[in-house]
Amino acid sequence: MKAIIINEFGPIQNLQLADLPIPTINDNEVLIKVSAISVNPVDLKTREGKGTAGNIKEWPVILGWDVSGEVVESSSSQFKKGDEVFGMVNFPGHGKAYADYVAAKADHLALKPANISHDEAAAACLAALTAWQNVTEHYKVKEGDKVLIHAGSGGVGHYAIQMAKYLGAYVVATSSAENKRFVIGLGADEHIDYKAVLFEDEVSDVDFVLNTQSAEIAERSLTVVKQGGTIISIASAVNDELKEKAKAKGIKISQTMVKSSGKDMKQLADLLDKGIIRSQVAELFALEDMQKAHASLATGRTVGKIVVKP
Ligand SMILES: NC(=O)c1ccc[n+]([C@@H]2O[C@H](COP(=O)([O-])OP(=O)(O)OC[C@H]3O[C@@H](n4cnc5c(N)ncnc54)[C@H](OP(=O)(O)O)[C@@H]3O)[C@@H](O)[C@H]2O)c1
Repeated sequence: MKAIIINEFGPIQNLQLADLPIPTINDNEVLIKVSAISVNPVDLKTREGKGTAGNIKEWPVILGWDVSGEVVESSSSQFKKGDEVFGMVNFPGHGKAYADYVAAKADHLALKPANISHDEAAAACLAALTAWQNVTEHYKVKEGDKVLIHAGSGGVGHYAIQMAKYLGAYVVATSSAENKRFVIGLGADEHIDYKAVLFEDEVSDVDFVLNTQSAEIAERSLTVVKQGGTIISIASAVNDELKEKAKAKGIKISQTMVKSSGKDMKQLADLLDKGIIRSQVAELFALEDMQKAHASLATGRTVGKIVVKP
């Protein structure tokens, strides 16, 4: 089968096309013939030896976690041959998604809704799970909450806006002016152009901040959250100094990490099926062009998700 591998951590040029044996499956796993893969910033970080690189025990590395495709072999009672499935496979372990075939734990997958494409389904894995686990588990968004989402136009942010609206929140989201129409179209009540103004001058009394950006933005967010409110940072560490500053203001702050979950994938499938959330696919690349996909995501300007097709 075709796969994109790296033989050592490093730059984009390390991503190479290879011909590898089709993986075999263990108990309670399925073999997926992949129709679409999505690429996330953690793929780039891991390629560079950061991200989840510490969990890698086997070389060459096949990066990637998000797949959508058809079950061609199953040792699980959950899925049978011919089922169309999607999911974030084995995160934060070695996902091996950049390939024609992927062996996946049945517990990490859900049936793909019939009304969405494999491209849209592959997009709605790691980024959508991150958004969902943060708005329903790590913090439970409730009716009437005021929610601030940094980078509402990004992979995580565009799902988080739709989910927070569905859960009844008043949603404020940041992006550049170029993406204002997109962010408002997803349901955000207010847009803040982070390039033109300081968000802390524009918003206050926030119940929950989803910080997809730096520790500096987490710290600045302390000034907009009400006492008893919550900040979750997904892209930057929350150090002791920041924790102390938050505590002094009566604000809860933490860093979270997404986890593979078939149960959560089934909830995403339901939201996608009902049209409550949708995937924005910014760009499509062929598997052979994975270097271009990484280069595009590395710009930090992606609107929604980048999808790759074997
Ligand atoms: N801990 C976890 O479980 C977890 C899970 C998923 C992702 N993450 C991390 O979260 C981060 C975001 O991931 P992602 O997939 O959403 O990234 P992404 O899709 O690459 O984000 C791109 C978007 O960010 C916007 N943006 C860039 N700088 C911004 C700023 N200063 N303020 C507001 N918006 C800004 C851009 O909009 P403009 O072009 O309009 O600026 C663009 O639309 C990454 O670092 C990723 O590794 C962590």
